[in-house]
Amino acid sequence: MIESQQEQVILILDFGSQTAQLIARRVREAGVFSVLVDPALPASEIANLNPKGIILSGGPASVYDEGAPRCDPGVLDLGVPVLGICYGMQLACQMLGADIVRADHREYGRANLQITDSSDLFGAIPERTTVWMSHGDQISNTDQAGLQVLASTPTCPMGGVRSTRNGRRFYGVQFHPEVTHTPHGGEILQNFLFEICGCASTWRMADFAQSACERIHRRVGDAHVICGLSGGVDSSVVAALIHKAIGTQLTCVFVDTGLLRKNERELVKATFRDHFRLDLKVVDASASFLADLAGVTDPQEKRRLIGHRFIDVFKEAAAGIDNVRFLAQGTLYPDVIESGHGLAGKSANIKLHHNVGGLPEELGFELIEPLRDLFKDEVRKLGEVLGLPDAIVWRHPFPGPGLAVRVMGEVTPDRLHTLCECDEILLEEIVSAELYRRTSQVFAVLLPVQSVGVMGDGRTYENVVAIRAVETQDFMTADWARIPYDVLARISNRIINEVRGVNRVVYDISSKPPATIEWE
Ligand code: XMP
Repeated sequence: MIESQQEQVILILDFGSQTAQLIARRVREAGVFSVLVDPALPASEIANLNPKGIILSGGPASVYDEGAPRCDPGVLDLGVPVLGICYGMQLACQMLGADIVRADHREYGRANLQITDSSDLFGAIPERTTVWMSHGDQISNTDQAGLQVLASTPTCPMGGVRSTRNGRRFYGVQFHPEVTHTPHGGEILQNFLFEICGCASTWRMADFAQSACERIHRRVGDAHVICGLSGGVDSSVVAALIHKAIGTQLTCVFVDTGLLRKNERELVKATFRDHFRLDLKVVDASASFLADLAGVTDPQEKRRLIGHRFIDVFKEAAAGIDNVRFLAQGTLYPDVIESGHGLAGKSANIKLHHNVGGLPEELGFELIEPLRDLFKDEVRKLGEVLGLPDAIVWRHPFPGPGLAVRVMGEVTPDRLHTLCECDEILLEEIVSAELYRRTSQVFAVLLPVQSVGVMGDGRTYENVVAIRAVETQDFMTADWARIPYDVLARISNRIINEVRGVNRVVYDISSKPPATIEWE
């Protein structure tokens, strides 16, 4: 079930906290592999996963609510250290015999923690430190649970606790050590990992690459693997990894939809065919994609047509390759969690996945998804370890339907060409102003309106191009990027001077929500 089969793992019982994934990331950043698991797993199954430590996450419920998520009390008696965070702490304390009641003072936001015992969990943390709180309940009747108080805030006497009764090693913190608003939170988690659980900091991308290659090699045997390569970070890393594992048994298919950025096809060819010497099949299907899109203006209809055409083209390409048994995909850990296919339980939001690269099961291949355990930043690290160029490892996401959803209205070769030229200038200027790594996504949009202008002595009536630049952590919410005026001025000047048919450039200052990142 836990695909990586790492030697040491920290299990995070996910009670639905917004920050459960963040706990997993903090643990991994400390060099220890971690996964989220369904809190309803019986203690015996948790024991079979052989964790070095268990973390009980926070969650939106109150432990006394009807139907509040719970875990097997046996989890506290596996002989494995347990750290409860917020809801997780309260649940564990309740299972140990304490009462949980509504607090007189709710605590949301920063609080001052006073540490009174720094022998283990709070070792080397300043006696007074700021922590991030988010709770309305309080623990009472603590004697029953054998709780020792390690830290408190003025309104929360049980800020940090320990129970070693009956050989248990239970720790609890009412605050959230995983968020950056708790400045020493990382060290507190590391104390748990290294001092209390006895973990070693060994989760490294180079080792992951090595063991992933061995697993792929074992699984694939002498069969053939096919991989849809889009040139995006995820599919590029999958291709490089599988190629390292099985060499010529991998064939990648790159579909030129005619809706790509300028030079995209060349970049992918140069990287994978020339540099990696990977078996890359480039299919030029632009004519069929453009024929499908003729006369279509509705964005959802564009997406539907592109998605169907993509699958047909890919199927046809796959049919020409012998002995294919596996299809490789760049599924990441957050996708696994959010689609409910991982071990995790009740994570709140289900993200919409609208990737046209998602190929249907009817293709009849077994799926191979070597990035299923990784977060996006880990995928980038892996890309670096595998020797992918920065231009690929750090690239912004690009939607599957490509420029079709950035040419507003009908998609024609002329309009695509205009947009490609604008987009290229924009990206050149963003890169040269060293803003590419500081923004999350930057692109141009060709609007379906004409505007009046004046060039030389003549009046023009030409296209308007919008520039979109956003900053975001997760693409679910985003803020428009404060690109300096002089950079915007250069972009606008160059576009209007160099791209025929454009006489006006506007800058999009909408955040998501209520706007979306793409315009269509
Ligand atoms: P929105 O526009 O929904 O975009 O705020 C969020 C992120 O998703 C990308 N996006 C897509 N990706 N197929 C994709 O593969 C699509 O149809 C699609 N629509 C939006 C968008 O570029 C942004 O990164």
